[in-house]
Amino acid sequence: MTQTKIAVIGGSGIYEIDGLQNADWVQVQTPWGDPSDQLLTGSLDGVEMVFLPRHGRGHVHAPSDVPYRANIDALKRLGCTDVISVSACGSFRDEMAPGDFVIVDQFIDRTFARPKSFFGSGCVAHVSVAHPTCPRLGDACEEAARDAGINVHRGGTYLAMEGPQFSTLAESKMYRESWGADVIGMTNMPEAKLAREAELCYASVAMITDYDSWHPDHGEVDVTAIIATLMGNADKGRALVSRLPKLLGTDRAPCPHGCDRALEYAILTQPD
Ligand code: ADE
Repeated sequence: MTQTKIAVIGGSGIYEIDGLQNADWVQVQTPWGDPSDQLLTGSLDGVEMVFLPRHGRGHVHAPSDVPYRANIDALKRLGCTDVISVSACGSFRDEMAPGDFVIVDQFIDRTFARPKSFFGSGCVAHVSVAHPTCPRLGDACEEAARDAGINVHRGGTYLAMEGPQFSTLAESKMYRESWGADVIGMTNMPEAKLAREAELCYASVAMITDYDSWHPDHGEVDVTAIIATLMGNADKGRALVSRLPKLLGTDRAPCPHGCDRALEYAILTQPD
């Protein structure tokens, strides 16, 4: 058994955790540079927590410039065991409406301008990301969302786009009709892949703000519409997060899905 330490990476609109005890902002240095911001450490219901604002306080990092490697490395250095990613997204499904949350379980990675791995020449490793999220953490997020009265959908494919512009109408229709994506956002990749390389359990809670551009009954997506929905979503997101410590508990058995052992058979380079 190890001690649970829950990391929350907060997206647009979420810049703190309610009710955190012994809260302290700490600076963490990593070989990958500075994380997005200082990290807020503390405890909730007796469980250690770490919060990291993905875009930095004041929303200073664009999706392409978020230091994803430094962020995941910093969480690992602080001893986090579980990572809950909370982020805003657009929806490709009628029934996944703005204000609803989706516990994402698959990704299509269309990002192309971000470093995506801790490995490379010198140490070559190929981890499996066939199942990129942890079902055990997903269960906790789903239960927390239902308990908080949030309209939540379990499972969904998240298309990660580079941005910063939103999709064209043709792209929006293609992602929805041909590629089978359910939601779209700009930040969950390479975050999810890096969490797996760092052997951290990872779950993604996508908070829907809009219908992207495909929906005939809704106008094209713009930031004004997103911000209006974001505020309500942020309150719900914080309510979800505040329920997680009780659900996950202080003691943690090895991950039944093996997320915490992802490197066991992944490294090809011979040790010196
Ligand atoms: N974040 C919130 N809504 C989005 C959308 N429609 N596309 C990409 N990222 C988003």
